[in-house]
Amino acid sequence: MRARRVILALTCCVWAATVQTACAQESIGQDNIGQDSTEKAIEKYRHMLSDDPWSNPGLLDVDRGESLWKTPAGPNKVSLETCDLGKGAGVVDGAFAELPRYFADADRVMDLETRLLWCMEKLQGFKHADLIKNPYPRGGQPTKDLGAIAVYIANKSSGMTFAAKLDKPKEKEAVALGHAIFFRRQGPHDFACAACHGESGKRIRLQGLPHLTKPALISSKAPRAEKSQLRG
Ligand code: HEC
Repeated sequence: MRARRVILALTCCVWAATVQTACAQESIGQDNIGQDSTEKAIEKYRHMLSDDPWSNPGLLDVDRGESLWKTPAGPNKVSLETCDLGKGAGVVDGAFAELPRYFADADRVMDLETRLLWCMEKLQGFKHADLIKNPYPRGGQPTKDLGAIAVYIANKSSGMTFAAKLDKPKEKEAVALGHAIFFRRQGPHDFACAACHGESGKRIRLQGLPHLTKPALISSKAPRAEKSQLRG
């Protein structure tokens, strides 16, 4: 079940990274729908946070992630600084913007978290089963270490445009799978991802619904409206 969820998230992610122009025509809505006063107020709040970066509590996770990335850990007592995120061992600047991608050493397409777990396993010697045992923080608990490291890496691509090439055969396969899943209605509620993420200017209560079939800037410093989490 867990494995299926990971694959689902990964493939949708891979797909969402490619849609740029190709799928823009598949979106159902107009950009100006729903631009009401609540949306404007949320926008203002986001601007206040981006105008003064130090007001964003998510930056604490960026700092924590950086020190976790650089600190020797695991049975092998090495840091993640030799982990290759696709741009060469240890290169973090702009790496997130080019993920997901195919990694020959693992012979599979990986997104950021999948790659980080792979490095923790292969370089630091952690056991895969231990790493995925409790993937999410409990209520009131801080972001997991993996999340903090991911936020640090994503922040190193802040302001860049997603630029995953996705031209290798395995990458194309993953994109096709993600595309199918994104539009397929399934699960107990019979929803497709596209039901909530195929239009602009929509939200559920205060939570804005990201339009995932449109190209987006990486705004790892922009938290969601109500939470202190960062966006990747
Ligand atoms: C019933 C509506 C609904 C459906 C169906 C749905 N989502 Fe979401 N999604 C949301 C909401 C609401 C949020 C914002 C949650 C938050 O900010 O806490 C969200 C957030 C996200 C985000 C985070 C975006 C960001 O900027 O942080 C991603 C990625 C995402 N959804 C992908 C998917 C995928 C992939 C699927 C299909 C497997 C899916 N969603 C199905 C409602 C939905």
